[in-house]
Amino acid sequence: MDYGGVVPELASRAHQQNIIPVVHQAMQKAGVTADEIDAVAFTRGPGLLGSLMVGTSFAKGFAMAKNIPLIEVNHLQAHILAHFIDDLKNTYDHPEFPFLALLVSGGNSQIIVVKDHLEMEVIGETIDDAAGEAFDKCAKVMGLPYPGGPIIDRNAKQGNPHAFEFSRPKIQGLDYSFSGLKTSFLYFIRDKVKENPNFVQDNMNDLCASLQYTIVDILMNKVKRAARETGIKQVAIAGGVSANSGLQNALHEAASKYNWKVYVPQLGYSLDNAAMIAITGYFKYLKNEFVGQDTAPFARMTIK
Ligand code: KG4
Repeated sequence: MDYGGVVPELASRAHQQNIIPVVHQAMQKAGVTADEIDAVAFTRGPGLLGSLMVGTSFAKGFAMAKNIPLIEVNHLQAHILAHFIDDLKNTYDHPEFPFLALLVSGGNSQIIVVKDHLEMEVIGETIDDAAGEAFDKCAKVMGLPYPGGPIIDRNAKQGNPHAFEFSRPKIQGLDYSFSGLKTSFLYFIRDKVKENPNFVQDNMNDLCASLQYTIVDILMNKVKRAARETGIKQVAIAGGVSANSGLQNALHEAASKYNWKVYVPQLGYSLDNAAMIAITGYFKYLKNEFVGQDTAPFARMTIK
C-alpha cells in the first residue's frame, strides 16, 4: 500500500519470515502431520524470483527430509485448475473438457482452450499490459491506492457505465492490448483536470463505471469470438480480475444469450491462493509428474 505496488525485495523477506509458520498452521488446520504427506507441490513460476526461490527451496528441503516426491506447478495453470477444488464444507460444479478459460490477473490476460487437467492451449493473449494492470494503473491515475481493481469495482456499482467513452484496441485475432486504453485514460484525466481540478473527485463513480465497462467489453468481445471460432460453449474465468462484478455479470449475460455454461471461481480461489497449487499438484501426482532436486524457479513461464 505505502509503495503503490509490490516491492520485490520486501516480498521475498516476508516470504522467508512467514513460510515456516504458514506451513505449520496449514498442517494444523488440515489435521495432518508431516509424516502423512505424500508429495510436496510448489510454484515454479511465473512470479517474483526472490519469492519463488523461498518456496522452491522450502519444498526441496521438505521433500528431501521426508523422502517424498517434488511437484512443480505453473501458477497460471493453477489459476485454471482452481475450478476443480472442492473443500471440506462444499463441493462445486466443475467444468467439463474441453472448455475455454479467460485467465485475467495482474500479470496475464489469456484465452485458453483447456483440453484436460494438464493439457492447455493458449489461443489469445495480451501483447502488452494485462487487464489487472489496466485496472491498477488507471486507478493510480485517479489517485486510488494499490491494488485499484477492487476499488474501481466497488465505485463502479454507483456510476454510469456510459458517462465517458474510452478508446478500444483494434487488435487482430484473439489477442488483447490494454496499454492504449491506459494512455488514453491518462491523457483524458490530465486534460479534464486542467479545466476542473476536482474533476476526478466529482466524477469518480462514473469514471470507474465507464472504465470497467470498457475493460470488460474488450475482454468479453474476444471470448465471444473464441467461443464462435472453437464451437466451445463452456467458459470459465480465472485469476484475480475474475472477482470483478462487471465481468461476472457480462459472463452471465453472454451465457443466457449464447447458451453457454459458465464457471466463476469462489472468491477465495480466484485471487492468488495455495489451494490452487495443491489441486494442480494432485493432478500431477496422479500422473507421476515429479521433478528432481535440481529444479530451479522461473520468473517468466507460459502455459504449455
Ligand atoms: O491473480 P491475482 O490475485 O494476482 C496477480 O496477478 O498478481 O490478481 C491480482 C489482480 C490485481 O490487478 C487486482 O487489481 C485485480 O486482480 N483484481 C480486480 C478485482 N479483484 C482483484 N480487478 C477488478 N475487479 C476486482 N474486483
